Amino acid sequence: MMLQILKKLNFNSLTKSIFSKNLVANLLILATGFLVVNSNAQELSYKKDKSLFVKPIKNLSDKQYDTFILGRSFFTIPWVEAPSATTARDGLGPLFNANTCASCHPGNGRGNLYNKDNQFSRNLIAKLSIKNRFTKEHKEILKTSALIMEPNYGMQIAINGIHGVNYEAKPDIKFKEKKVIFSDGEIAILLKPTYALKDLQYGPLHKDAILTFRLAPSLNGLGLIEDISDEDILKNQDEFDKNNDGISGRANFVYSAITKKMELGRYSWKASIATLKQQTADAANNDMGITTSIFQNDTCTKNQKACNEAPKPRDSIDLTDLRLDAITYYLKNRKTYSAKKDKAYKEGLEIFRTIGCISCHIDSFVTKKDVKISPFTDMLLHDMGEELADGRSEFKARGNEWRTPSLWGLALHEKINKRKPRLLHDGRARDFQEAILWHGGEARTSKENYMNLDKELRKKLIKFLEKV
Ligand code: HEC
Ligand code: HEC
Repeated sequence: MMLQILKKLNFNSLTKSIFSKNLVANLLILATGFLVVNSNAQELSYKKDKSLFVKPIKNLSDKQYDTFILGRSFFTIPWVEAPSATTARDGLGPLFNANTCASCHPGNGRGNLYNKDNQFSRNLIAKLSIKNRFTKEHKEILKTSALIMEPNYGMQIAINGIHGVNYEAKPDIKFKEKKVIFSDGEIAILLKPTYALKDLQYGPLHKDAILTFRLAPSLNGLGLIEDISDEDILKNQDEFDKNNDGISGRANFVYSAITKKMELGRYSWKASIATLKQQTADAANNDMGITTSIFQNDTCTKNQKACNEAPKPRDSIDLTDLRLDAITYYLKNRKTYSAKKDKAYKEGLEIFRTIGCISCHIDSFVTKKDVKISPFTDMLLHDMGEELADGRSEFKARGNEWRTPSLWGLALHEKINKRKPRLLHDGRARDFQEAILWHGGEARTSKENYMNLDKELRKKLIKFLEKV
């Protein structure tokens, strides 16, 4: 039934329905005077400017601007190993993946899957854990940690070490082609990854090890996303699918190392971190080996002798609270890209809505500061099917669940990265269509709807994604 409707959809009927909806909306606004939200806020811009994501929002006071610049410098300046003449930014490692935040978040856009030498880029991180055996010990650990650490290597594979400290391992991912055939005969080829590690430097992995790969996501709009209230996110939950649409988003609740309480998770591909501040401290610790008041220890495991014995910086904390807060401030107060809502946008949005993408990639929230935003995410976890599953739980997120990523800013990534950005948590999708075709689980119907659209409409939807 649904498919028949979709088959019959043509462009005219789509535009007509937009027109009539707008008319109703306009009448409502006239009748109620209901137009309080700020849709043209200073935070938002639709300029296709490749440095937009690093620019400050307008109207910062001198003091705020200084904090922004301090944060930006600590996000961008390379850290060095201790001891060094520059105590402000020594303390890199002993184990690390990159020496600055910016090397994995170029222009605050998405990370690249490959580097210039066509090797897997450091923007792709191998994360590790071991299976929960539900022992007393595991249960205790999981009260405050998303996972149980792999004993030899820890939570994450470091591809670099400071002088005298061996790196841990290198990523080894193989792709196998997978053919998808549309009902109109079009063929798409997907690349299915198999994850492994090579050149393991500290012995074999634990027999229960779970390995997953994560590509650095876009940092567009994080301040506005942090400004969505918990209530607004939670009201879209439908854990037991009471409305019967096959979609049952639920929030992740995660332990905050800052407040020592369980909080709504928002950041990372499984929403396992509650705040930008903790995300920053976590990244500093795991990605760069930089300690903070939140994570005070380096990431060496017991078996990593050279790592444990490496020279310590003079200061016991590498990144002071002042600087940690400045980076957080910087991340929050940057300009956000949000597409211009012109005619082509509205047409694309109508297709996006009709085939059900919008059930998860929600286009409309109003922040606590009354800014109307279109991030295209519900910030909830969804079962995306076996093929995307990585088998790794993080707090409430199961092995087959992922947080809906925001889509705004997709328009800028090719400009920023100077090549087509790879999509999905591990960067397996080479373009928008491939990203859609990997959707399974709760998103399966929506994917099938896409596959059953006329080619013209499919193209229009992809054009829309290129604009958002
Ligand atoms: C070696 C690469 C690398 C470095 C260095 C790095 N990141 Fe990330 N970043 C990632 C990856 C990969 C993820 C996704 C992690 C996940 O989902 O588990 C991420 C996620 C994030 C997110 C969450 C975005 C979202 O929407 O969920 C923020 C914020 C962030 N990083 C900030 C930082 C900051 C600040 C620094 C420096 C202190 C930094 N990153 C350093 C690779 C990196
Ligand atoms: C059930 C919820 C759900 C529905 C419905 C859904 N998506 Fe998604 N989408 C997700 C999740 C979750 C991911 C991340 C999956 C991953 O990385 O493994 C995602 C990823 C994406 C990405 C890649 C984003 C990135 O940053 O890499 C694009 C593009 C996308 N979806 C577009 C669409 C379109 C177009 C539709 C409609 C055909 C759609 N989605 C329907 C939940 C959904």
